[in-house]
Amino acid sequence: WKKDGRQEVFLYDAGTHYNNGRPGQDEQFKGRVSHFPDELRHGNASISIRNTRQSDSGSYTCHFPHIQQQRFHIELLVGAAPEPSVIILHQTKDSALLQCEVRGASPKPEVVWKDSDGKILTADDPKVTKTEGNKYDVVLRITVTKTDSYTCVATQKEI
Ligand SMILES: *[C@@H]1O[C@H](CO)[C@@H](O)[C@H](O)[C@H]1NC(C)=O
Repeated sequence: WKKDGRQEVFLYDAGTHYNNGRPGQDEQFKGRVSHFPDELRHGNASISIRNTRQSDSGSYTCHFPHIQQQRFHIELLVGAAPEPSVIILHQTKDSALLQCEVRGASPKPEVVWKDSDGKILTADDPKVTKTEGNKYDVVLRITVTKTDSYTCVATQKEI
């Protein structure tokens, strides 16, 4: 298995592999990748990557060099998002200004306010800031005029 055509992710050859004395694995994947020995006889060379990080996102190829020049390709997108945090910014007798904040999410989340029936409510335009490492901060405010239970939902459609 290789990432982006150059990084060695995992290699199995007649019983030796990167968790079993074989050198050459890219530092990024040390101690995090395993295969499924019992699956190999079924032609299943799947691997598992633990503790994934956003830097693991990329293009992975699987190659069986001794059998045939066949390559399999898969895109991995690792995302992250904190739980939205909500506060009441301002409240009067008949209205309230609610704020929902999602900080450091990647890929960019869609953030909405919903009422207790799950209906998406019309809010202000979200304030979106792109920070370093392709992370996004999204702040979404809404003025509500009814007593209800309001929920903020952040969705990352790609993942
Ligand atoms: C390969 O093995 C893994 C681990 O047991 C399993 O999750 C996966 O579904 C298998 N793939 C196929 C195509 O059978």
